[in-house]
Amino acid sequence: MAVIADKCPDIKVTLVDLNKERIDAWNNNDLNKLPIYEPKLKSLVEKNRNKNLFFNTKIKKSIEEADLIFISVNTPTKERGLGSGYASDLKWVESSARTISEFAKNHTIVVEKSTVPVRTAELIKKILSNSNLSTYNQPSSKTFSVLSSPEFLAEGTAIEDLENPDRVLIGGEDKEAMEELSKIYQKWIPKDKIFMTNLWSSELSKLTANAFLAQRISSINAISSLCESTGADIMEVAKAIGADSRIGAKFLNSGPGFGGSCFQKDLLNIVYLCRHYGLNEAANYWEQVIFLNEWQKSRISKLVIETFFGTVTSKKIVILGFSFKSNTNDTRYSPSISIAKDLMENGANLFIHDPKVTKEQISDSLDKKNEQINGKAQNSWYFEKDLNLIFKDAEAILILTEWQEYSSLNWQDISDLMRKPAWVFDTRSIISDNDLSETQINFWKIGRGIISDN
Ligand code: UGA
Repeated sequence: MAVIADKCPDIKVTLVDLNKERIDAWNNNDLNKLPIYEPKLKSLVEKNRNKNLFFNTKIKKSIEEADLIFISVNTPTKERGLGSGYASDLKWVESSARTISEFAKNHTIVVEKSTVPVRTAELIKKILSNSNLSTYNQPSSKTFSVLSSPEFLAEGTAIEDLENPDRVLIGGEDKEAMEELSKIYQKWIPKDKIFMTNLWSSELSKLTANAFLAQRISSINAISSLCESTGADIMEVAKAIGADSRIGAKFLNSGPGFGGSCFQKDLLNIVYLCRHYGLNEAANYWEQVIFLNEWQKSRISKLVIETFFGTVTSKKIVILGFSFKSNTNDTRYSPSISIAKDLMENGANLFIHDPKVTKEQISDSLDKKNEQINGKAQNSWYFEKDLNLIFKDAEAILILTEWQEYSSLNWQDISDLMRKPAWVFDTRSIISDNDLSETQINFWKIGRGIISDN
């Protein structure tokens, strides 16, 4: 919405939320306190806030005034009830639709921006069409058009992705409403990148894009393990296959497994939908992408433990990076979470660093609140903001997020500080083979295996 406000000065963009604390944070004078860290977002908010970009909790008034409403609520995997563990929980989409149906006036275009299972627009349409009858069963003056326009931005590059998207989808039945939305995008996106589809193709394309991206990562991660066993180098293999224009060079970085709030949720959704329609082979195929991802995470913690002959009890292990990728403070489904838990389960003392993630976020992910004794969590992890202090007496360093600052560390100094035998495990391939060759550190890299073992 900050990008829409920036590109369309003639449009008033209002963001509403039930959560006052969050809205207050978006209105904070200190732009460093915005709720999300995302490169370039701060300056966009600074430039447009209170000009044509507003944040408030006046839901009724804002809906009444709106010509077009984007539903942008989260749709997490259901944790209970029918489809739990697979299907998306649509309660927030549903309650948004009900609120819109209650307060909207005249004609309103309602756009699904959240990632939703295919055919969710049907639910929204049903809820909205009920408001065509007033309390006394007389037709009311409100009308709606429902469109699907899913979002393809990735965290860390969100503003760039929005300003220069590969494509934008508008799915719908009402041509006039589709044109209205297209006119907004056309303010900065060439018309040939705006695809008009039917509602269901638009909804399913979003899930499918994420499933294909996740599948690519699981594919390259499966090959990374084979490289480690055979002497092949994953970087060389990725370059070789990526040069084939049919495969393409992007999204071929092997790593500790994909994280983030989207890939796993969307894959589970596809698995659920396939099973729902009796397509079990298709469901099993996509589920395998998730299994491989789980295996990739667990094989990394196992490898660290096995390097220390099966025991990491009381060893100081440094974790570099807790967000699920660089340039974001988002930790949802970060591979660091399960790898850290596995290591703590085996008795390791973890010292965790991340340039943007807070200690509270790490605690939310790692501490089992019900297992606190005297208000203290029983897990042994420590948060250290200062990279100059974290390495002393460490026996292993695991690089789990590809933050820029980790690729320019002084390994000679770090080597002097570590307890020997010392190991570095680079799961993001950000250190080159020679960087550690003059040090006393043993070095393992994803998709390469052991590079030096002193
Ligand atoms: C993903 C999609 O890339 C977006 O197009 C989509 O809009 C978004 O989900 C969404 O549905 O909202 P995001 O999860 O923000 O975006 O980030 P990605 O860049 O896709 O990374 C996801 C995970 O895959 C990260 O853990 C990342 O480290 C990992 N990854 C990515 C790799 O391990 N290797 C790669 O080559 C690329």
